[in-house]
Formats: sequence, structure tokens, C-alpha cells
Amino acid sequence: MDYKSQFYLPDGSYLLNHSVGRPIKVAREGFERDFWQPWCASGREPWGDWLGGIDRFRSALASLFDGHKDDFCPQTNLSSALTKLLMSHPRLGRSGARVLMCEEDFPSMGFALQKALPEAKLSFIPQGADITDANVWQQHINAGLDLVFISHAFSNLGALAPVTELVPYCRELGVMTLVDVAQSAGVVPLSLATLCPDFMIGSSVKWLCGGPGAAYLWVNPKRISECEPVDVGWFSHENPFEFDIHHFKSHPTALKFWGGTPSVAPFVLASHSIDWFAALGSEQVRAHNQALVSRLYDGLHQYGANDFATECRSGTAILDFGDKNDVVMAGLAEASISVDKRRYGLRVSPHLYNDAGDIGRFIECVRACL
Ligand SMILES: Cc1ncc(COP(=O)(O)O)c(C=O)c1O
Repeated sequence: MDYKSQFYLPDGSYLLNHSVGRPIKVAREGFERDFWQPWCASGREPWGDWLGGIDRFRSALASLFDGHKDDFCPQTNLSSALTKLLMSHPRLGRSGARVLMCEEDFPSMGFALQKALPEAKLSFIPQGADITDANVWQQHINAGLDLVFISHAFSNLGALAPVTELVPYCRELGVMTLVDVAQSAGVVPLSLATLCPDFMIGSSVKWLCGGPGAAYLWVNPKRISECEPVDVGWFSHENPFEFDIHHFKSHPTALKFWGGTPSVAPFVLASHSIDWFAALGSEQVRAHNQALVSRLYDGLHQYGANDFATECRSGTAILDFGDKNDVVMAGLAEASISVDKRRYGLRVSPHLYNDAGDIGRFIECVRACL
């Protein structure tokens, strides 16, 4: 299948999909049709069409994650979604609430947790622990915790957390779970119907190729009545058009987290790419991605920064060339091969529009630099 022709791709090899996925052509056409046209082409107000676009965004997510549309609420980014959620839950807002996360989580998640829950006690699984191993997590998890924050994929490690073991383990202990899918959505399959975490937050900008601003909060329907968001607006109301300033009634679904007049464009754009990826299936994307990640690790095996079992690998390969990292980065930039560098080395993320030729060029360029 020729995936390359379906995306806008730069010259060279684009391997930065852990940062920003490339735009897909169907999204541009869909955006023109669902956002631009209703606004430009008629005298009536475009809200009906625009809200229909947001509805499709939620349906596309439901299809991608095997969940229900009503349990998804559009959000601007994960930090904001996390803050809204944490501040809404009485169990988390109490003094002495206990939350566990990892030092390897994305820092913004830690910032939001500390500011949104000033009375809580936050503890961390330290850097260096093998967080692909459920036993390591279990040493830190006990019934005294209120929430465990789990990154499905860790952005700097190239690794997955053992979510399928952790979520049921926490449930058994009465501890709530929140899964961050920023680095896994679209490239690592996840079924909400099977996993049943309490909460999930994610975005569309990376492997889903949907651009920034189209994030989402998913709330398990068993938890929705416990949540009382403080950051509300008329779109969080059960009937936004009631217009009685003395009467606020929360929307019965996850839309209670929506707020004031919603932004529309990012969600309309993302709905088309998420739809496209959902129709293809994350299993297929994962298989293609992992074949290329394995090629990278095989070709440059002495430089693999971490030694994770194949089933624990995320979509990103991490390669460490030690004091040659900057030389290699310069050589790759010269050859129009796009990657970036973080704490443990270079991050290399092949997507559907990459192939064995991209990986071969990458390996050749690295060898020439060394
Ligand atoms: C694991 C993870 N979580 C969250 C984020 C981003 O959070 P936000 O949408 O608030 O910028 C990233 C960004 O790269 C990430 O890798």
C-alpha cells in the first residue's frame, strides 16, 4: 500500500513523528468542506455544521479507542485537560490525597498535578527504574493511593508502560488510574472497552497527524457523576441554550468538561485524520512502525540506548552515539533526515509514510558520521 502519496511530505526523510505527524491530504479537503465552506458560503450561521464537526471528532476517537463518543470531551491540550479533571474530583482535592507518577513522565503533567492539587502528596517512581516492568510499579502501588498517572508511552525512553497489568491491579486495590496517550495514540493499540481505566487524556498532533489543539479527555462513565468541574461555561451545561444565569446544571456526559464557546477548527481538521487512522487500525500502524524500529535497532545495535523487549517498545527508537551525538545530528540535518535529541539520545520515529529506504539512509548517514 502506498501511504506516502496520502500525506504532505518534505524532501528527505521525516522521522519526527513523536513530535508532529505530517498532515494528511483528506484532512485538508475535509477541513475545507466542514469548516471553511459553511462559514464562507452561506448567510446562515455556521454553528450547526461546526458542532457537527466536533461530533465527528468525538466519534472518530470512539472508533479509534473502542469506546463511546459521549465519554470524550474536546480539550486544548493534555495539561489543561489534566488540570480540569484533577480539580473536579473530590477524592483528589482533599488534603493528603496521594498520587503516584514517574519521573520519566512528560514534565508538563507533573507541573499540572502539583498546581492543581496543592494539598496532595505526589510521589514518583524514580528515573532509572524499569518502568516497563509491572513488578517495579507494584512496589510503589498500594491501597493508600488515590490515583496512579500512567504514560502509555514514555517520550524519552522509547518504552511502553505495562498498562494492561497496571489498570486492573489498581482497580482491585480501589486506586484510580489516568492514562496519558499523547505518545501512543494511533501507533499503539488501546481498547477502552477492554482496559477500562478511570480517565484518559491524549492529543492528535503526533502519530495521529491531526495538528495541535485537538486534545481530548475521556472519562469512564462510572466516574462521570463524581466529577464536578470548576472550569465550566455554557457548553458544560446540560442545555447550553437555557440561558438562565441562576441555573447551572452539568451536562450528564463528559461534555461537562467542555467550558465556554468551543474552538472548532483544530477538531474539524483532526477528525478527518483520526477517522482515517481508525479505519486503518492501530494494529496495522504498529506493525509497520515496529518493523522499521527493529531495522534501526538491528542495524545500529551497539547504539540502542535501552534494552527493552520488543513488546515493550514504543513507536520511537532511542539511539545514543555518546559524544558523537551532535556530530550525528549535524550529519543527519545535512542529509535532510529529521530527528531530534533528548536526555538519552536521538529520537527516531518511523511512521506509515516511512519505509526501509528511509531507515537504510539513516543508518548509512550515521555510519558515515561516526
Ligand atoms: C507523554 C506526553 N504527555 C503529554 C505531552 C504534552 O502535553 P500538552 O498537550 O499539555 O503539551 C507530551 C508532549 O510531547 C507527551 O509526550
